[in-house]
Amino acid sequence: MSLCVIGGLGYVGLVTSAGLAELGHRVVVVDTDRDRLALIQQGRLPFHEAGLQELLDRHRASGRLTFAGSIAEGARGTQIIFIAVATPARHDGETDLSQVIAATEDLARVLSGRAIIAIKSTVPLGTHQVVKRILEGRGLTEGRDYDLVALPEFLREGNAVYDFLHPTRIVIGGANPEARRKIRELFVGQDAPVIETSFEHAVLIKYASNAFLAMRVSFANELASLCDAAGADVSEVLTGLGYDTRIGHAYLSPGIGFGGPCLEKDLLSLIRIAESTGYEPAFLRAILEKNEHQVRQTIRRAVDLLDGDLYARQIAVLGLAFKPGTSDVRNSLAVRIIDRLQRRGASIRAHDPVANEEARQVVPGIALFDDPYEAARGAHLVVFLTAWDQFRSLDLARLRTAVALPRLLDGVNVLDPQAVTRAGFTYLGMGRR
Ligand SMILES: NC(=O)c1ccc[n+]([C@@H]2O[C@H](COP(=O)([O-])OP(=O)(O)OC[C@H]3O[C@@H](n4cnc5c(N)ncnc54)[C@H](O)[C@@H]3O)[C@@H](O)[C@H]2O)c1
Repeated sequence: MSLCVIGGLGYVGLVTSAGLAELGHRVVVVDTDRDRLALIQQGRLPFHEAGLQELLDRHRASGRLTFAGSIAEGARGTQIIFIAVATPARHDGETDLSQVIAATEDLARVLSGRAIIAIKSTVPLGTHQVVKRILEGRGLTEGRDYDLVALPEFLREGNAVYDFLHPTRIVIGGANPEARRKIRELFVGQDAPVIETSFEHAVLIKYASNAFLAMRVSFANELASLCDAAGADVSEVLTGLGYDTRIGHAYLSPGIGFGGPCLEKDLLSLIRIAESTGYEPAFLRAILEKNEHQVRQTIRRAVDLLDGDLYARQIAVLGLAFKPGTSDVRNSLAVRIIDRLQRRGASIRAHDPVANEEARQVVPGIALFDDPYEAARGAHLVVFLTAWDQFRSLDLARLRTAVALPRLLDGVNVLDPQAVTRAGFTYLGMGRR
């Protein structure tokens, strides 16, 4: 079966394309981003993702992966077309569907034979109707010329290749059982439960999953604030909590909150969906509000550690990616926090093990260093904003000699408070003692 992935050089699109090739399929990768295309033609990835380079090399060589710069060129005559373009949040929190609309409009011009359109992008309720109307405008009828399926993606950046090849579940939402069967067959051999449902339920499953993860993060942060107030250590509480098999340890790490391209925007989308039905989602709003509180609290702690103001202070920020394992800085809370520190007059020296290059594009006016100790040189405060594993083995004595003032804010609880204090720093964490 011929497959095509539109938006195929994005985080989800490229992992999907390379993953499908690994499962034995031939995939045409379509993307309109000229810079990403140029990189991929040289065999280079547009972003860091563990294991992806290997798959790319293997399947460029096997000929299963080919690349095209337009839908007209890449999707013509294809039987299954995946749409994996971005669906960012607009300023008002509504989902921006413009990339999905543009891709569908282009696709409508070249669709021929009976095709399956599988939406990998995270899209709100009502998207089915939008896609249907665009295709109807070109005389294409659902169930006759094409079938529409929602195929939400649950991969985690940083573990994306593993997650694609070992999915926790495959959710296929669509009206036509034959179309669902064809999609299911693409994943034959993968040991995962398959949930066949309607387009709308598939969409809601994706939003519910991300809202639940966001809830766990905000819950951990709520406990951290409570522990701060009570003089307790949240890590002790969470360790004991997480061993309950009904609860588990994942997504229970207190910190600056959930950033990145998905959790916040998907929670916002779910809130907008609820509002559009007339339901007031107070609980979902509380999850978001706690997240915003974490950013404010991080700034407040920096101010406290610097005796009341940040003006002309030098702050070393360690960690820029929205989470460890990725170079992605989209909607990274580290970037948001840096912006607020700068607005209060601080100057920033920063280091991330892999995200420096991507950060350079989005955070103006900061000095970036490949070496964490160099970033810390002369700093009045060191702030950790991404829980990279390599930070756990930093030489704290060496860090101490690099800084001008020994003050350390661990926004992601990546360090051992006792070790930091022993190295001579004044320490603040998130719910730690
Ligand atoms: N990033 C994640 O971890 C993740 C996880 C699960 C789901 N999702 C969802 O997957 C979708 C994609 O997210 P992403 O992070 O991969 O976004 P992305 O911005 O990295 O990728 C989108 C790609 O689409 C391309 N594109 C845009 N318009 C196009 C068009 N008309 N024709 C061809 N290509 C076009 C862009 O050039 C870009 O390369 C979103 O809906 C997101 O919510 C993302």
